[in-house]
Amino acid sequence: MTATDILKVSILGKESIHCGFHLLPHIAQTVLTTLPSSTYILVTDTNIANFHLNAFEKEFESALERLPSGAASKPRFLSHVIAPGETSKSREGKANVEDFLLLNRCTRDTVILALGGGVIGDLIGFVAATFMRGVRFVQIPTTLLGMVDSSVGGKTAIDTPLGKNLIGAFWQPEYIFIDAAFLETLPSREFSNGMAEVVKTAAIWNEAEFGSLESNSAEIFAAIQTPSENYAGRTKHTRSKAQELLLSVIVGSISVKAHIVTIDERETGLRNLVNFGHTIGHAIEAVLTPTVLHGECVSVGMILEAEVSRQMGILGQVGVGRLSRCLKAYNLPISLSDPRIASLPAAKLLTVDRLLDIMRVDKKNSGAEKKIVILSRIGATYEQKATVVQDSIIAKTLSEAAKVIPGVLKHDPVKMATPGSKSISNRALVLAALGKGTCRLSNLLHSDDTQVMMTALLELKGASFEWEDEGETLVVKGGEGALSVPPKGKEIYLGNAGTAARFLTTVCTLVQSSPVDNAPTTIITGNARMKQRPIGPLVTALQANGSAIEFLESEGCLPLSIAPNGLQGGNIQLAASVSSQYVSSILLCAPYALEPVTLDLIGGQVISQPYIDMTIAMMREFGVAVTRRVDPNTGAQLNMYDIPKATYVNPSVYSIESDASSATYPLAIAAITGTTCTIENIGSASLQGDARFAIEVLERMGCEVTQTAASTTVRGPAVGQLKAIEEVDMEVMTDAFLTATALAAVASGKTRILGIANQRVKECNRIRAMMDQLAKFGVETIELDDGLEIIGKPIKDLKRGVSVHCYDDHRVAMAFSVLSTVVEDTIIEEKRCVEKTWPNWWDDLENKIGLKVEGVDLASIAPKASASGTRSPDTSASVVVIGMRGSGKTFVGKAAASALSWTFLDADAFFEEKHKIGVRAFVHERGWSAFRTAETAILEELLREKAMNHVISLGGGVVEVPEARELLKQYAANRGPVVHLSRSLDEIVKYLNAETARPAYGEPIEDVFRRREPWFAECSSHNLVNHFGPNSMASEKGSRDEIARFFKHITGQQPNLAPNVAAGRRTYFLSLTYPDVTQAFPQIEQLSEGVDALELRVDLLRSSKDYELPGPVIPSESFVSDQVAALRNVTSLPIVFTVRTVSQGGAFPDAAEKEAFELLDLALRLGVEYVDVEVTLPTYHIRDLVARKGFSQIIASSHDWSGNMKWNGDLVKEQYEAAKQFGDIIKIVGKATSIQDNFHLYDFVSKASSLPQAKPIIAINMGIEGQMSRILNSMFSPVTHPLLPVKAAPGQLSFKQIQEALHLLGLLPTQRYYLFGTPIAHSMSPTLHNTGFEVLGLPHQYELLETSEVGEQIKATIAAPDFGGASVTIPYKLDIIPLLDELSPAAEAIGAVNTIIPQTTSSDGKSWKLYGDNSDWLGIRDSISAYVSSVDTALVIGAGGTSRAAIYALQALAAKTIYLHNRTTIKAQELACAFPDARIQVLDAIEQWPEGVAPPSVIISTVPAAAMTAASANNIFPLSNKLFEYRDGPAVVIDMAYKPAETPLLTLAAQAGEHWKTVPGLEVLLKQGYVQFEKWTGRRCPKHAVAPSVRSKYNGES
Ligand SMILES: NC(=O)c1ccc[n+]([C@@H]2O[C@H](COP(=O)([O-])OP(=O)(O)OC[C@H]3O[C@@H](n4cnc5c(N)ncnc54)[C@H](O)[C@@H]3O)[C@@H](O)[C@H]2O)c1
Repeated sequence: MTATDILKVSILGKESIHCGFHLLPHIAQTVLTTLPSSTYILVTDTNIANFHLNAFEKEFESALERLPSGAASKPRFLSHVIAPGETSKSREGKANVEDFLLLNRCTRDTVILALGGGVIGDLIGFVAATFMRGVRFVQIPTTLLGMVDSSVGGKTAIDTPLGKNLIGAFWQPEYIFIDAAFLETLPSREFSNGMAEVVKTAAIWNEAEFGSLESNSAEIFAAIQTPSENYAGRTKHTRSKAQELLLSVIVGSISVKAHIVTIDERETGLRNLVNFGHTIGHAIEAVLTPTVLHGECVSVGMILEAEVSRQMGILGQVGVGRLSRCLKAYNLPISLSDPRIASLPAAKLLTVDRLLDIMRVDKKNSGAEKKIVILSRIGATYEQKATVVQDSIIAKTLSEAAKVIPGVLKHDPVKMATPGSKSISNRALVLAALGKGTCRLSNLLHSDDTQVMMTALLELKGASFEWEDEGETLVVKGGEGALSVPPKGKEIYLGNAGTAARFLTTVCTLVQSSPVDNAPTTIITGNARMKQRPIGPLVTALQANGSAIEFLESEGCLPLSIAPNGLQGGNIQLAASVSSQYVSSILLCAPYALEPVTLDLIGGQVISQPYIDMTIAMMREFGVAVTRRVDPNTGAQLNMYDIPKATYVNPSVYSIESDASSATYPLAIAAITGTTCTIENIGSASLQGDARFAIEVLERMGCEVTQTAASTTVRGPAVGQLKAIEEVDMEVMTDAFLTATALAAVASGKTRILGIANQRVKECNRIRAMMDQLAKFGVETIELDDGLEIIGKPIKDLKRGVSVHCYDDHRVAMAFSVLSTVVEDTIIEEKRCVEKTWPNWWDDLENKIGLKVEGVDLASIAPKASASGTRSPDTSASVVVIGMRGSGKTFVGKAAASALSWTFLDADAFFEEKHKIGVRAFVHERGWSAFRTAETAILEELLREKAMNHVISLGGGVVEVPEARELLKQYAANRGPVVHLSRSLDEIVKYLNAETARPAYGEPIEDVFRRREPWFAECSSHNLVNHFGPNSMASEKGSRDEIARFFKHITGQQPNLAPNVAAGRRTYFLSLTYPDVTQAFPQIEQLSEGVDALELRVDLLRSSKDYELPGPVIPSESFVSDQVAALRNVTSLPIVFTVRTVSQGGAFPDAAEKEAFELLDLALRLGVEYVDVEVTLPTYHIRDLVARKGFSQIIASSHDWSGNMKWNGDLVKEQYEAAKQFGDIIKIVGKATSIQDNFHLYDFVSKASSLPQAKPIIAINMGIEGQMSRILNSMFSPVTHPLLPVKAAPGQLSFKQIQEALHLLGLLPTQRYYLFGTPIAHSMSPTLHNTGFEVLGLPHQYELLETSEVGEQIKATIAAPDFGGASVTIPYKLDIIPLLDELSPAAEAIGAVNTIIPQTTSSDGKSWKLYGDNSDWLGIRDSISAYVSSVDTALVIGAGGTSRAAIYALQALAAKTIYLHNRTTIKAQELACAFPDARIQVLDAIEQWPEGVAPPSVIISTVPAAAMTAASANNIFPLSNKLFEYRDGPAVVIDMAYKPAETPLLTLAAQAGEHWKTVPGLEVLLKQGYVQFEKWTGRRCPKHAVAPSVRSKYNGES
């Protein structure tokens, strides 16, 4: 046998764990010789079999050959391969293996070898435990998790549908062979998964081991990433250093577990310790499995449990920080906001309640109490077992938001230190690393930024680091400036750490050429954001000085390639107006240049001088004196520095000053709560600008401040007594402005803060952020060019219950937590963002300051009201219209009132009535201010008194008054819609020049516009863009239709939702994939054939200005508003508004979440009917949006492009549940790889839809294989059209294709439609309807049924199962009625039926009723309203059935007077009596309306054309020009006579003037036909195709 070096570990008294590399020969030899048997069975999974089975079979076969041939028969070696994955670990999986054993006649003496990960180990172990009452088995783990965890300890189990690992046994293996070479084929994610357990074991047991893991992650990864050739590692002398390290880590971890198992095999006490991270980790896993792996969940669990310990005051932040960094170094997630978790739909289900609920059934619990393993420091636990922890503590840790409970400060006077300064920490690391000797750094900040800096310095071999005092002290052994290029292929990764990137750029120039096996240059790089941040000026300066630096991607940004040439030195010129960090970078390295350096700062204003001073002061402490030059004549300081050649001399101890910006928070809390706080590590001698906050801000606000060189004490005035500061320049302490702003909010008076313009480009636009969030408290602010003003309010007047959004900015969170100490119920969302500079802020607030902090689960609180917030769904609440004067409020308001049948109210008119004086005169006499006061009072009265069924138009200036704005915001939030009507400045100016009725502005209109527009936006819940002017594309009718649609939708009077959804029909939307949708308009009719809605793919939009830009573009809000408005001009179909992100298959950048939500919010403001919201977006944003949706609907969507989601798996259930929480409609999109996937989909949808209160679900599979799902899907199937430039998704079909497919599948059987009447041979109806069917791909047929009476033939026809509907014409419109079950109100009133519609009455569609309707009147109504918007007086000629329809139509249009003339007057009088409400006046002669009254603007003739002529003597209806007397606006003549096309009436009308429009009978016929078509099929009739074919048939016949 080949020599193999084995490390043996003892467990339960036996040295049965054998560890090493390439152990196969050793395994075969050991098993065959020490476990004699007749049968050896190896079980593995297909993944592992691919790599390793062959070798095992060969080795065992040949070892069996070599066995001494004493025995009767040679033992057998059999192998059995099963499917990989957790699903094999089931009862069925176990039975399958058992059947294999039984079929192969295995007996009690069988030895089973479990070759695989934890799944194989657990399953095969359990099989071994019960097969023949227990057989021997051997564990050969192939995953890291298997090696360090599942194979050791004898726990075996299988899963059941009710839970994991619920059935199993303790069954110890004979051997555990740990062959670390298996890890070389293991996917790296699986390796990390195992590392979680390794880190865990070290964390609870062995600090030294933890230290080794902390500093060796790169080497450990390298060991599994480099294949070991020729069995390298099998023997000690062939083992690489990396292999040694890997093995020692594994063996170390196993030894701890083996030790614990040996003491407590059955898990009664000590063995609980290995459950560190598992209490919370398991709960997370229960929700996220199988997408997130066990180790990944445990990794997050460990951090959360460590935070529980920190919260209990047991573990320090140092411990939490070390644990976080270590897990991160092994690519493990450390929080639920890790994108790998947060982007999963199931992450939405991780609510605090749900997690606590799952933890309730943990095995470790005693009764109702939960137990958690509490760390006391790295390497030790608080107790030798799990500790009981209260639910409230766990809940607080798990909550994403925090709430401070105002009250007495328990620790007043407070004495504390804040965490180390980030700036000083980073400088100290560079200085100590470059210095000579050992330096002990204390109070180092434990954050990402410093971690990145340390890792980089290690990679450059510039220094070595070690932790002392349980991590409180970092021991740096300086490398005296010796640095080397990292190995080939190794880039220095800096994440988004700006300081590290700037400092290290110069540090890397110091590197000297290195040994041959290293790379030729050093490469530093960062994450995507870092690759956009500037570094150009620094690189330019270094290049000019002779350094060879190249930009590898974009000019001016990381990544950089830096040659190891050393830094030249001499004169260096640097532009320092962008960042002082460039200056510090060169200063820090300058002593190591080849020549002494003179640094000359050029290019104007030097930014942030205090930071440059800080660097120089710190260099002095490390033994290098920099001199700043002085102008010999004036004595003024110059921007020129001389740095000598030198080596830093490390002080033995360097205490890092606390962070002065952080210190502002506890000091401000003292100020606002009237208590005392001392910060122990910051005083007047501080290097940091923010140290001046106490004196320059707090003292001026009325605090007592005592500052020594090294400490600062603040005592606040009594609560509520803070004073505003008239003006303060915070240029030298910009980061502290947020703290000052929070205090100013409750100070008496107005505070003006200046010098902080740079805060707009920090983690967020901090000025805007503070203004927006303060507004939620009711605090007014005014933005200035380089600052802001805050108008303070008494604490009691601030709003309670505000939820503060923090923009992921630590300073926003901490500043508002100051305010929350006096304003009850303030919620700070995203509490974790403080981790950037003060990870334990919330714990310190409780433990050191003494205010109780609670966790808040945002998912469980009701959405908060905001200006456009939740409203009671009161559909009669009045609408308020606001906007600039000249924006069209009166026109739009009146049109809206008419559409809603509500009352229009002009606030100015109301004002005049009330004050008995015109607005203009009032202002003239009493001045603007009196007018504004009076106007606000009127507003208050209107909102109270006219709260229902009014459209109220307000004066443009109303928003100038803060109280009025507040009233409007309240109204919008709690009562009804406030609509901001906007119009471009140009158009307003044009309009106003022509208008003088109201007072003129005393200032340029542009200024008024700019000032008021933001207020209008802020006070309104909706926005209507006025595109209705004469220059717009919309016709007068189009404008009215759109105004009607908009107001009916937003008030809920008639939400513009797709009617087919409610009717239970299949529905479709067309995806418009244009960069500019107006390109679709020429063919919009064709494109929208058959569909129920149009999808606007906002992520694909690009204005002409952006057209050429490379990469993704975020369309501006104004462009998107214009696109929506333009679309509304050409269609009234509902719009589906979609901002599809890249990861969900669209083009919108994933990182631009904020912008995405701004657009979605815009959609709701614009009254868009359906808004698609991806479930992976942050929950708090989604909740906000849902709260504002009004009568629009949310489509909650999730897309899986990977093909991982299976419709019969667990993931889809999670997606469904997540979407169900907030979607009105659920959309799940998967990917099909076979047709079977569509059947699974169908099953899933059927089951989901049969649940009570099921929501509609859009379920489709992408790809060609998924086409079938698009056919079967019944809710909003996205369709394409042959005329579209590109399909929105692969596999999309057109509406027509889907109808044809449905027909072939038997899901859309042919229906027959008829025309009943006689004579009907020349009817146009068959052409009309059959063309429509054909164009839409519907399999139906329309035919003539000419009968001599309404008899048996018709009865049989309407009873046939394929009867789809019928048109009824003369002479059967009345005779048909007895055969019908029900009449529409119109048919009832008109007394005639022209349309029969079968309506199903049972859910299976097998029974139906016959419904009689009349569409003639709709044809007439639509013909009138196409030209005339409101009818005053009309004339109807004739008194037959058609004139009844005409009167009904005129009545519906609210005509004030209807003249009726008929040859026989008596018949006309009868008709008038039938419509008592229609205000009919019967005329004896056709033109004889009374003198002096308005002539008709609408004339409808219902008599045959032959009955009317202009000239003939014996005419019945003599016609003259007098008929067309009406001149005051548009007017219309409709001749219902169907032939000839040009009747005498129409001919005469055509001569009456431009304003008289004519409508021939054929057009009315078409219009009523469209209505019939839609009533029958639920589809809009494709007019663009139907009308020409009907006209051509008509013309051919006449
Ligand atoms: N008994 C215990 O004490 C204990 C402890 C922890 C976990 N577990 C159980 O372990 C299971 C998880 O184990 P796991 O993480 O090892 O998962 P696993 O067994 O499913 O293996 C992970 C994946 O890696 C593949 N794989 C394994 N080794 C490979 C190799 N060397 N090269 C290439 N591919 C390889 C597998 O085919 C599988 O697809 C769970 O069922 C869990 O309940 C048990």
